[in-house]
Amino acid sequence: MKVLIVGSGGREHAIAASAAKSPWVEKMYCAPGNAGIAEYAQCVPIGAMEFDKLTAFAKENGIDLVIVGMDDPLVGGLVDEMEAAGIRTFGPRKNAAILEGSKAFSKELMKKYNIPTAAFENFTDPDAALAYLETAKFPIVLKADGLALGKGVLICQNLEEAKEGVKTIMLDKKFGSAGNEMVIEEFLTGREVSVLSFVDGKTIKTMTSAQDHKRAGDGDTGLNTGGMGTFSPSPFYTEKVEEFCEKYIYQPTVDAMAAEGRPFKGVIFFGLILTEEGPKVLEYNARFGDPEAQVVLPRMKNDLIKVVEACIDGTLDEVNLEFEDNAAVCVVLASDGYPLQYEKGFAISGLDKFKEHEGYYCFHAGTKFDGDKTVTNGGRVLGVTAKGRNLREARENAYAATEWVEFGNKYMRHDIGKAIDET
Ligand code: AMP
Ligand code: GLY
Repeated sequence: MKVLIVGSGGREHAIAASAAKSPWVEKMYCAPGNAGIAEYAQCVPIGAMEFDKLTAFAKENGIDLVIVGMDDPLVGGLVDEMEAAGIRTFGPRKNAAILEGSKAFSKELMKKYNIPTAAFENFTDPDAALAYLETAKFPIVLKADGLALGKGVLICQNLEEAKEGVKTIMLDKKFGSAGNEMVIEEFLTGREVSVLSFVDGKTIKTMTSAQDHKRAGDGDTGLNTGGMGTFSPSPFYTEKVEEFCEKYIYQPTVDAMAAEGRPFKGVIFFGLILTEEGPKVLEYNARFGDPEAQVVLPRMKNDLIKVVEACIDGTLDEVNLEFEDNAAVCVVLASDGYPLQYEKGFAISGLDKFKEHEGYYCFHAGTKFDGDKTVTNGGRVLGVTAKGRNLREARENAYAATEWVEFGNKYMRHDIGKAIDET
C-alpha cells in the first residue's frame, strides 16, 4: 500500500515511524515532511494547505491512503477534497473538524448534550463581551473562536486585563479571523490530561493517556508554546476518572457529533482538566496531539494502518487497542528564544546515536537538510522520547538522551514529568 502523510512536525514523524512498522506499507510519502521523516518517507515539497497539488499528487502516484496529521488542512476540508478525488483519507471531514476549528461550536455542542465543561458565553460583538465582563468573576478565560496555533487563549486576572484581552482578540485581531467570535469562560483549576482516541463515526476507542507541558519555562513559567514535553501514561488518569469520562464525555461526544449530522472519523483529542467537581473538557482537537503522539504512538502495540483503516471503514468495534505496560517521556529540544524570536540553520550532531538504542526516538519537529547536514529549521527542533519500565525510568532515559544531540542555541525544560514525583 502507498501512504501519504500530510504535515511536517514531530507528530507526523511519530505517525510515519509507527506506520513504517506496518507490513502493509510498501511506500510512504510525506508532504512536506522534514529531515527526520525522510528516513521513512519520501518527502515531497507540497504545503499542507495546497489542496489541489496534494490531490493531484495522490492521484498521479496511486496513493491508497492519506493520513492528515495537522489541524489546518483538516479544518479547511482536505479530507473532503481527497474523498471527492476518490482517495481514502484518514481524518475528519470539514463539517466534523469544526469540533477543533470553532471553540464556539464545541462549547455549544457540550452545552446541548450535557458534556461537562467550563461555564461560558459566546460573543460576536465586542461591546457585549465588555458589558458581560463588568459583572464577571476573576480570573476569567478568553478564547478566540478559531485556530490560533494554541495561542488564542488568554487567562485574565482582573477586569482591566480582560478588557485588554477583548481588544487584542476582537478589535486588534491578533489571531486574525480566529477572533471574529470569542468564548468567555469560567477559570478552572486542576490537573490537565490529554486523552487521544480513534473514532469511526460511531465507535470510540481511547489510547493511553498523556500530559503536556505548554509553558516555555521550568515550573510552568513563561509564554505558552506548542508543547515543551510530554509523559505517558498520566498517573492522575485513574480508573475512576476514566470510567467517568467514558460515561459522560467520550461516547457522548461521538454521539453528539453524529446526532448533529457531523459524524466524526479520525482522532479526537480530549484536553481534560480534573477539577474537584470531576473531569471537564477544556478543549477538543481533531487530530493527534503534538508532542502527545510522540509518547503515545511508540507505546501502541497495534498496526497503526489497520486501526486507521478500521476508522475509515466503520469497523473500529472489531479492534482491540493495546498499549505496552510501560511509560514514555518526550523532552522537546527547542531553539533558545522560542516561542518568540530564534535563530535557525545550526548543524545538529549526534542523531545517529538513536538508531543504536532500542526504545529511544528522536522525532524531528523543525529540521531540514542543508547539503548532507541536518540543520535546525524551527522553534521546536527535536522531540527526544525514551521508554522505561515506569515514568521515572523513562524520564531518566529521556533526559540522558537529550545529551546525545547538540546544536546551536539548544534549549529545553528540565522539569518535564516533575509531577510524577507527587505520586
Ligand atoms: P485550550 O487551547 O483551550 O486547551 O487552552 C490552552 C490552555 O489554556 C489549556 O491547556 C489550559 O492550560 C488553559 N485553559 C484553557 N481553558 C481554561 C479554563 N477554562 N480554565 C483554566 N485554564 C484554562
Ligand atoms: N499538545 C497540544 C496540542 O497538540 O494541541
